[in-house]
Amino acid sequence: MTADAAYPNDHPARTAGHGGLAESPFLLACRRRPVPHTPVWFMRQAGRSLPEYLRLREGVPMLESCTRPEMVVEITMQPVRRYTVDAAIFYSDIMVPLRAVGVDLDIKPGIGPVIADPIRSAADLDVLRPLVPDDVPYVTEAVEGLVGELGGTPLIGFAGGPFTLASYLIEGGPSKNQERTKAIMYGEPELWSRLMERLADLTIAFLKVQIAAGASAVQVFDSWVGSVAAQDYRESVLPHARRIFAEIEPLGVPRIHFGVGTGELLGLMGEAGADVVGVDWRVPLDEAVGRVEPGKALQGNLDPAVLFAPWETVERRARDVLTRGRTAEGHIFNLGHGVLPSIDPDVLARLADLVHEASTEDPR
Ligand code: CP3
Repeated sequence: MTADAAYPNDHPARTAGHGGLAESPFLLACRRRPVPHTPVWFMRQAGRSLPEYLRLREGVPMLESCTRPEMVVEITMQPVRRYTVDAAIFYSDIMVPLRAVGVDLDIKPGIGPVIADPIRSAADLDVLRPLVPDDVPYVTEAVEGLVGELGGTPLIGFAGGPFTLASYLIEGGPSKNQERTKAIMYGEPELWSRLMERLADLTIAFLKVQIAAGASAVQVFDSWVGSVAAQDYRESVLPHARRIFAEIEPLGVPRIHFGVGTGELLGLMGEAGADVVGVDWRVPLDEAVGRVEPGKALQGNLDPAVLFAPWETVERRARDVLTRGRTAEGHIFNLGHGVLPSIDPDVLARLADLVHEASTEDPR
C-alpha cells in the first residue's frame, strides 16, 4: 500500500504534496523547512473530550487502557479521523514507564497520578531500575500497529520530563506548590541529581522504544517545570534535559520540548537541545522568538480556554497566533496546553480546518 492510499480522506491537509512522511507538513515545520500550510495538532487530542473515547474507556482503568494495544491504536486514531490534524499523538501517559519498572502508582480519575510510596531518600531510588523494551511490549505493538494505520500522518511519541516525573514521585501526587520536590532540589542536591539521572534514563529509554517501533517525532512534556526559577533550571534541570535530547538526536526524529508557565525558561529550554520549543499561551509567539536561540521551530500557542468563546473570537485569536507564528523559523500550530475535557470536539474540528485554510491563503 502506498502512503497516498492510506489517507482516510481527500482533505488538503492529507493530500499535500505526494503524501508520505517525507512530505509531512508537521515534520517539515519541525525541521524549519517550507510548508504548504501551517501544520496543526492538539496536545491531549487523544482521550479526554471525545464521546467515542469515553465509551471505549468505560470500565477500563486509565493505566490498564495503555497496556491494551488495540485500544491504544483505536484511541490514537479517533482524533485523526475527526480532525484534519497533521500528526497523531500516541495514547499513553507519562506515568507508564514508571509503572512498567515497578513503581506502585495509579491514575485516579479527576485527580491524576497517585504514588503509593513517594520517593524521598536515597534508599527509595532503587525502584527506578532501567527500562528495557520488554517492560513495555504493548507500547511497541501499538506503535507498530499505528504506523501502518496512519500512513502518511506522523505519529508523535512522548515521555515526561524529569522535573515533572520527580514532582509526582516526591509529592506522591499532584501538587500546587511542589514544596517537597523543591526542598530536595534546593537542599539535597546529590539525591536530586541521582533521582533526575534515573528519570532521564527512563525517559530516554521510553522514547527510544517508541522511535524504534516507528514514531516519527517525540515530545518531552516537562509540564510543571515552569514553577522553577531560571537559575535553578540551569543548575538542577538543564543538564538532565540536555542529556535526554542529546541521546535522542542520533535517532534522527524531531524533538519537541514543552512545559507550562515556562516564559522565563524558554531560552534555557532551547539550550536543552530540542528542535522545537513548545510555548504556552502566556507569551506571544513573536515574543518567544526573541527568547529562544536561532535554529528552533516553535509550537503553540492558543489558550485552550479561548475555545469556549464564540467562534468569531476563536477565529480572530487563531489568526493572530498564525500571524505571530510567521516570525518563527518554523511554526506548528497547537494549543498553549492540552485540550480541556469539556471542549466541544466540533470547535476543534473547525479550528484545524481554519489553520489550514488561513495558512494556505498565505503560505510561508
Ligand atoms: O492526547 C494526548 O495527548 C495523548 C495522551 C496523553 C495522556 N497523558 C493520556 C491521559 C498524554 C500526552 C499525557 C501526558 C501527561 N500525563 C502529562 C503531560 C501533559 C500535560 O497535560 O501537561 C501529565 C502531567 C500527565 C499525568 C496525568 N495523567 C494527569 C495530570 C492526568 C489527568 C487526571 C484527570 O483525570 O484530570 C492523567 C490522566 C490521563 N492521561 C487521561 C488521559 C486521556 C485522563 C484519564 C481518564 O480519562 O480517565
